[in-house]
Amino acid sequence: MEEILSLKGVKKRFGTVEVLREINLSLKRGDFVAILGPSGSGKSTLLHIAGGLELPTEGGVYLFGRRIDNLPEGERDRFRRGKVAYIFQFHYLLEDFTVYENLELFGKLLKVKNLKRKIEEVLRLLKLEHRRDFKPQKLSGGERQRVAIGRALVSGAPLILADEPTGNLDPKQSEEIFTLFKELNERGTTFLVVTHNLNLLRFFNKVYTLEGGVLKPFEG
Ligand SMILES: Nc1ncnc2c1ncn2[C@@H]1O[C@H](COP(=O)(O)OP(=O)(O)OP(=O)(O)O)[C@@H](O)[C@H]1O
Ligand SMILES: [Mg+2]
Repeated sequence: MEEILSLKGVKKRFGTVEVLREINLSLKRGDFVAILGPSGSGKSTLLHIAGGLELPTEGGVYLFGRRIDNLPEGERDRFRRGKVAYIFQFHYLLEDFTVYENLELFGKLLKVKNLKRKIEEVLRLLKLEHRRDFKPQKLSGGERQRVAIGRALVSGAPLILADEPTGNLDPKQSEEIFTLFKELNERGTTFLVVTHNLNLLRFFNKVYTLEGGVLKPFEG
């Protein structure tokens, strides 16, 4: 199976604090992987490193078979653009633009094909059609989160890195979003998801916990 993401011997220190001690992780195409772990254990840091937004202190990061941590920044950005989409823990929507425009600007940046059709589809899937002309400050927390998810879906990226993507949603909405992710996953999108929600674990084909700077298989 095609290797989508691999972290080899990744360590990350902030000053003298060693957040990631020794991370080895490999995602194949079609994987749907969860990472659990206490607050402050380094889950967001791991996702940032996995997608090339932050660099490891030591170790190698490979995306689609290519080592990216030693590339010059510009080259790294070009390489990952359109291939990796983030759903951040704290969603960064453009406050001066509507829901539709947020999706449109992002899609244009990535030169997404058939953008209008794609946005309409994503608005429908995420039940945001009635909010399309709202600016973010008029949205609920859950609606904002769905726009952030929408951005990742519009990108059509084959790898989605999601940090607590349904943390602001009620249980029913979380289930709906994960059902949607699962459908995308079955059509080939690979997911790496940080979550605290143990009710969602049945969606994943592998679950790890991050504790003390290392990943371990989760044993319920
Ligand atoms: N840029 C930074 N500079 C210094 N320390 C940082 C930086 N980013 C993260 N840290 C530290 O690294 C540790 C891990 O942070 P991280 O955000 O990865 O945790 P997390 O597991 O995502 O936590 P949470 O569940 O609360 O989101 C924390 O102690 C944090 O203070
Ligand atoms: Mg975090």
